[in-house]
Amino acid sequence: MDGSGLRERLAADGQAHLLRFWDELKEAERGELLADLNICHFPEILRFFRQAVQGSEALREQQKVDEHMEPVPKEVQGSVTRDRERLPTWEAEGLLQISQSKVAVLLLAGGQGTRLGVTSPKGMYNVGLLSQKTLFQIQAERILKLQQLASEQFGHKCTIPWYIMTSGRTMDSTNEFFVKNNYFGLQKENIILFQQGMLPAMTFDGKAILEGKSKIAMAPDGNGGLYRALGNQKIVEDMEDRGIAYVHVYCVDNILVKVADPIFIGFCVKQQADCGAKVVEKTHPTEAVGVVCKVNGLYQVVEYSEITLVTAQKRNADGRLTFNAGNICNHFFTLQFLKDVVKIHEPKLRHHVAQKKIPYINDQGQQIKPDKPNGIKMEKFVFDIFQFSKKFVIFEVLREDEFSPLKNADSQDGKDTPTTARHALMSLHHRWVLNAGGHFVDENGTRIPAIPSLKELTDLPIKCEISALVSYAGEGLEKYVASRDFRTPLIIDENGAQELIQNGL
Ligand code: UD1
Repeated sequence: MDGSGLRERLAADGQAHLLRFWDELKEAERGELLADLNICHFPEILRFFRQAVQGSEALREQQKVDEHMEPVPKEVQGSVTRDRERLPTWEAEGLLQISQSKVAVLLLAGGQGTRLGVTSPKGMYNVGLLSQKTLFQIQAERILKLQQLASEQFGHKCTIPWYIMTSGRTMDSTNEFFVKNNYFGLQKENIILFQQGMLPAMTFDGKAILEGKSKIAMAPDGNGGLYRALGNQKIVEDMEDRGIAYVHVYCVDNILVKVADPIFIGFCVKQQADCGAKVVEKTHPTEAVGVVCKVNGLYQVVEYSEITLVTAQKRNADGRLTFNAGNICNHFFTLQFLKDVVKIHEPKLRHHVAQKKIPYINDQGQQIKPDKPNGIKMEKFVFDIFQFSKKFVIFEVLREDEFSPLKNADSQDGKDTPTTARHALMSLHHRWVLNAGGHFVDENGTRIPAIPSLKELTDLPIKCEISALVSYAGEGLEKYVASRDFRTPLIIDENGAQELIQNGL
């Protein structure tokens, strides 16, 4: 949007209020406001607004959606527990595809980390592990290790490109962080940062909200903003040029994420699926995870904010939740499917509406922090493309092995916090050591039982951390730990197994 005719165009779209402080703005502030206005194409935004509001009104008549929800049928499900004998075949298939450099990973990292209360990108968060590694570093090292495993097994080098979707809010800091950390040992050209779109927050009657005199309240357009960005940032072309066939899309906050998990990839490839979702069993009706299901015969995720309690509480005869396929935001897509989505389906996706308390500036120029919702944010969701899949599958994994998200700041008995994430990782690594034949001993040299008594539970977890550079998923640890007794804290990394206390650390 250039200066000429700006006032008229905004007025035509009912947005003239955005210029109400214009006359008192300094040159730089005018530039700031124009920059925001430049990325706001109001005729389109208003169309999104109308569709989103209509959609959310329909959703309010929840009963209708609930009546049409069905669980995912057995035929399209795979499971790490129920299909144990088939896991090696799937893993071999996944590793084969990785070894041919046909697999890419795509990280959704455009979120704002509001609940965690951080201003820097969540991937830069240090949950307080022994190594002090951040989420980005843990993921980078899993990619490095997997490239190494596939290369060794098939005798040639391979690459897993890492696409990272950021937003206007997270792009620069994410980029700087990777540069500063030397891309964590990955090749710079194989880490591709791109930006998703932003949308203004709107009042309930369709006016963009002014957060400051020269600033519109803008937010990223949801993790489903991915598909638009894949097209307009030419990411799909980049994938094609690199010969990618399969993409693992995942969210940034799960400390246990198995990036490019060969078992999941192999399962989806063997099922000839074009779209897949990893799930964990949802065990509690009010847990904040979406559920994968069918609505009116089409696959979809009904988000935790959009399901009714009555439906969330439904149980089968065996006592399990009827809708128990808990979405962990780990998706598999073929590149062909993504191309169809970008070219054909993306415009059909409607934005979801979240009512929010959005700070704004009033007519007197005062900053107001509302105490009840005064507007909406519009977001597309990454899983809303499941409905277009020709062959959809889900893969159930174990929560304790693969899902511990970082959503909230630490608090007494808090859920999904830095403490729970740290404990989940250490507890998994503790089990890896035991499974590889290692043991832990207390300060008197007495072995700590693998399954501790109730009294010892209070001291959990065993402080133990294994670098992903040493083991991707528990493999290859015998040479470090078999028949050895360890005192904690224990770190196993490129320098071997080290008891930190003994080293005076
Ligand atoms: C998400 C899932 C939910 C799932 C839960 C598991 C969606 C819409 N919801 O919920 O079904 O049960 O994870 O932990 O996927 N992001 C962007 N751009 C945005 C907004 C978010 O890239 O505009 C990224 C975030 O950085 C994050 C991921 O998307 O990596 C998930 O976003 P978040 O807002 O944390 O989703 P949840 O509400 O936790």
